[in-house]
Amino acid sequence: MFARLNTVAFQGIEVITIDVEALLASGMGRFSIVGLPDKAVAESRDRVYSAFHGLGLSLPFDKITINLAPADVQKEGSHYDLPIALALLAALRLIPPDGLTEYIAIGELSLDGRINAILGVLPAAIHAASLGKGLICPKACGGEAAWAGDISILPAETLLSLINHFKGTQVISPPEPLMEAPTSQTMLDLRDIKGQETAKRALEIAASGGHNLLMLGPPGAGKSMLAARLPGILPPLTPQEALEGTMIHSLAGKLQEGKLIRTRPFRDPHHSASMPALVGGGLRAQPGEISLAHRGVLFLDELPEFSRTTLEALRQPLEAGKTLISRANAHVTYPSQVQLVAAMNPCRCGYLSDVSRACSRAPKCARDYQSKISGPLFDRIDLHVEVAEVLAEDLMRCEGGESSLAVAERVKKAQDLQESRYKSLGLPIRLNAHADGQVLDKVTSLDEEGLALLKKATESFKLSARGYRRVLRVARTLADMTQTEKVKAAHLAEALSYRRVHF
Ligand SMILES: Nc1ncnc2c1ncn2[C@@H]1O[C@H](COP(=O)(O)OP(=O)(O)OP(=O)(O)O)[C@@H](O)[C@H]1O
Ligand SMILES: [Mg+2]
Repeated sequence: MFARLNTVAFQGIEVITIDVEALLASGMGRFSIVGLPDKAVAESRDRVYSAFHGLGLSLPFDKITINLAPADVQKEGSHYDLPIALALLAALRLIPPDGLTEYIAIGELSLDGRINAILGVLPAAIHAASLGKGLICPKACGGEAAWAGDISILPAETLLSLINHFKGTQVISPPEPLMEAPTSQTMLDLRDIKGQETAKRALEIAASGGHNLLMLGPPGAGKSMLAARLPGILPPLTPQEALEGTMIHSLAGKLQEGKLIRTRPFRDPHHSASMPALVGGGLRAQPGEISLAHRGVLFLDELPEFSRTTLEALRQPLEAGKTLISRANAHVTYPSQVQLVAAMNPCRCGYLSDVSRACSRAPKCARDYQSKISGPLFDRIDLHVEVAEVLAEDLMRCEGGESSLAVAERVKKAQDLQESRYKSLGLPIRLNAHADGQVLDKVTSLDEEGLALLKKATESFKLSARGYRRVLRVARTLADMTQTEKVKAAHLAEALSYRRVHF
């Protein structure tokens, strides 16, 4: 007897339809799974046996073959348990085989027939919707699947409840879409930061144009505080962005009870993070921190303390907005459009600019410390800002500065202007940070004074071609922040002040 149904395989963010075929034939009692299964899939056999036993069913002593097609795609993970069990139940005619063809099934079985939560339910549900099919998934993941839109979802708690559902003796009710409650992260306000007006201004520019930002300063100046407040001044996630972020978190198993993400991601991995943890990959490919921060902020505190190879591996994803991981038998891609914020001390002791406190090796130690970061990585950071120590009178002042809410309003206005400009030009860009080459030249028309200033600055600061473009990009954002069409000399002058400082 034969039955077939669909499940999925994940290759990065990409979802591939997999056929699960079950064949019961006369012969020696043998249960084999073919079609490039990994160890977890091969172990399905034992879990399915046991789950059937738990239901009071015993598998016939026929030869059982499960084929997972296409055979050249590696099948990884434990989510094949449920489709294998359902295909067997359909082959045994305990479930009508026709009923299953309308669904994609994913789930892990426990030994007593319960269906356990798995990774990647939302991408699987969206894939099912694109095929016009429904989804059979673990009950614990129903809330996540419900965001896929108008599809039939069967969130099942046990294998028995599914048999009863298809027999018509029990109805599995559709799940409710769940949403994350606002977290305390949104409570962090720029108002808490005393003084540091230049750094706050740089933070607003970074937020407005989507620019990467590097903050350089002595210990305790407020760099980490500033970075943590960036998501609070960025516009809220659009529904599409929320769905994209939730898909990545779902694949990484980082979704809290399957709830849709609402807050803009802010990821601050520790500097001891390994390359797979930061960029993604590993034995079973998983999204890294840079992908978990997709459409949000990746904050690298104490930048020079990260390993050099790890930092270098960030160059490609930062440029392309996606991470490509090469594996033994496939290439997988994860989206990773992030805004990088980095913070560092100027040297190991941190007090380079304070002669009374700097160590005896200054300024050579600063050069050594900063040389840990390669030029190309520095080059990907549009805004470099020095965060000086907070002045005593600023610290003692009681009244706070501007609130995050007020800054966020301005940021939104500047971003809306950029979005409509690039849309009207038919370009797939949303913010100035992603404009380069001809696009950048096209959108930054300088007046006479601006042209003269840029020429002079390029010569006297010896700006590289990349450095030149960086200044133009930031100047464009500064003009957008004042809703000005032409980029003026004042914008260029300010942009030049955020260029890289060498020691
Ligand atoms: N501008 C500021 N206004 C108010 N409090 C501040 C400010 N700067 C620093 N602080 C206080 O100092 C603490 C340390 O600040 P923070 O961790 O942001 O410093 P940092 O610049 O990141 O230092 P490090 O280089 O050591 O990482 C904060 O938790 C806060 O209490
Ligand atoms: Mg810090």
